[in-house]
Amino acid sequence: MLGELGVPAFAFVNGLALGGGLEIALNSAYRTVDSSAAAIALPEVFLGIIPGWGGSYLLPNLIGIENALEVVISNPLKQNRMLKPQRAFEYGIFDAIFPPANFLEDSLRWADGVLNGTIKVERKNEPGRIERSVKWPVAIKMARGMLESRIGTMPRSPYVALELLEKARSGTSPKDRAEGFAREDEALAELVTGDQFAASMYAFDLVQKRAKRPVGAPDKELARKVTKVGVIGAGLMASQFALLFVRKLQVPVLITDLDQARVDKGLAYINDEIDKLAAKGRIDSDTANKLRGLVHGTTDKSEYADCDFVIEAVFEEVGVEQQVFGEIEQIIAEDAILATNTSSLSVAEIGSKLAHPERLVGFHFFNPVAVMPLIEVVKTDSTTDAALSTAFVVARGLGKNAVLTADAPGFVVNRLLAKVMGEAARAVYEGTPLLTVEKAFGPLGLPMTPFQLIDLVGWKVAAHVQDTMAHAFPERFFASENFHQLAELPRSWRRTSPGGSPAGARPAQKVLKGAVGQTPASEDKILRRVQDGLAHEVRLMLDEGVVPEVEDIDLCLILGAGWPFIDGGASVYLDREGASQRVTGDTFHHPVIRGL
Ligand code: 3HC
Repeated sequence: MLGELGVPAFAFVNGLALGGGLEIALNSAYRTVDSSAAAIALPEVFLGIIPGWGGSYLLPNLIGIENALEVVISNPLKQNRMLKPQRAFEYGIFDAIFPPANFLEDSLRWADGVLNGTIKVERKNEPGRIERSVKWPVAIKMARGMLESRIGTMPRSPYVALELLEKARSGTSPKDRAEGFAREDEALAELVTGDQFAASMYAFDLVQKRAKRPVGAPDKELARKVTKVGVIGAGLMASQFALLFVRKLQVPVLITDLDQARVDKGLAYINDEIDKLAAKGRIDSDTANKLRGLVHGTTDKSEYADCDFVIEAVFEEVGVEQQVFGEIEQIIAEDAILATNTSSLSVAEIGSKLAHPERLVGFHFFNPVAVMPLIEVVKTDSTTDAALSTAFVVARGLGKNAVLTADAPGFVVNRLLAKVMGEAARAVYEGTPLLTVEKAFGPLGLPMTPFQLIDLVGWKVAAHVQDTMAHAFPERFFASENFHQLAELPRSWRRTSPGGSPAGARPAQKVLKGAVGQTPASEDKILRRVQDGLAHEVRLMLDEGVVPEVEDIDLCLILGAGWPFIDGGASVYLDREGASQRVTGDTFHHPVIRGL
């Protein structure tokens, strides 16, 4: 063991140090880091395991419990966030940081200084007595509370990591150390043989490999070069698009709306967000100025003339979208690409009035636009390879993963989210208390309850998606007219509990009254209904060819709706819960993906 060599060991980290790489460094007596190293992290919890090789024991004893909680638990749960070297140095993970030019020489000289006593290493975050006795247990308790409210109690690894961090408080004697390492070994042995790790490895493979080589994407040489982007609309969604396009593609971006007041509101939002990015240090002030200069807002649609890629974010109604595109088509170049962000409407129908429907492609984002890494690229029967290829290249330029889907109601993600939200709504309208409904969905381990999700996407949008699905498949999807009445209420009247459920608001209760029945469902029944409904829908989507394989459905759910790795998206969970077998007489995976 590096920590027990009898002479001081030094680790000089000059590149990615994730998991094992960082753990080797932690076992050394001293550490330096190259300021250009790509990332530093302990991502194990993200994969359903815990940092071993002393990672869970050594880190809190080096940088304090609060920092360690962030590195070991919080960051992995935030879509596997990693540290930049400077930040890792500030936390105290490294004793010195040097620029890349002479990293090895600088590190060796520094090590020499440490050994001959001319350099004294100070570890300001190393926990003292008070931290161990007072701050440590409080931090653990708070972290447990936050975990329970954020991710429920289904995922095992964050809680196992929490226990290990809690016990690492005992101290740094050789006995404490040996016990700390032994606890990690035991925990790892249990986790790596479990279902959640098996599902996580499947999900990790999808995100690492399948997401990067999208199935069905045409040759990227066919893509049209995008030198100017047009966004139709200046509302919140449109402004979020404009911000993302300008930030990532750094090309001129045009937004338009019906009147100047709306345009100004959109521009104000975009400039405000650019200011925030600069304040957070995500972009420097030169870039901020450049981005502001690239965004232009007007009511004059003739300015779309030189846009190569025009996306709409207008009111979701086929007639409105047809009319908007019809108007823009008169203005743009022959070979410019049109994209619709429709959440669930038929892309072919939206394009049916165009002179050139072959240039229209579905380009479906997920809320929050800046955060969710998926774009569903939707192909109609007439979409050309050039339009598709442009969509894939643009998605990549935006830093998103694109998945090709057929032009089917709700595509992939919204079809399955509509199942979840529909089953939640069905239970509410049967008369089930909202808390029971929220709890019933807990075992799925989704990042948000159905009601939080409705709040996130907006009640009107949610009601619209629900209607589209119930219209397309009336026997399988639940929708209620009453949902539209709720959606009309001011936001503050609906949002009353942390779950965003309309539980306490009187106006919401008034609207619900009369529409709510007297036959509440049990948690088990609700869960079973949603499991079976999802399994059925996934099977149908595969049979209909919405995407070629179940892996694509899982990938969409993971990237577009944050469905957990520990469920393998959905199919692995549905297999292991027996839902796919119950409903379709077969499992999605052969053999079923399970632990030992
Ligand atoms: N708006 C904007 N940004 C947000 C946000 C919001 N509502 N919520 C979180 N963020 C940002 C945070 O600012 C933070 O950014 P930073 O890295 O720059 O600081 C980042 O997201 C992470 O935030 P948190 O640490 O708070 O993240 P959480 O771990 O709580 O995750 C979440 C937040 C990513 C929203 C997660 O809860 C999630 O994945 N939820 C599921 C979302 C989902 O299902 N979306 C799809 C809905 S369907 C849809 O949009 C299609 C449409 O057609 C209807």
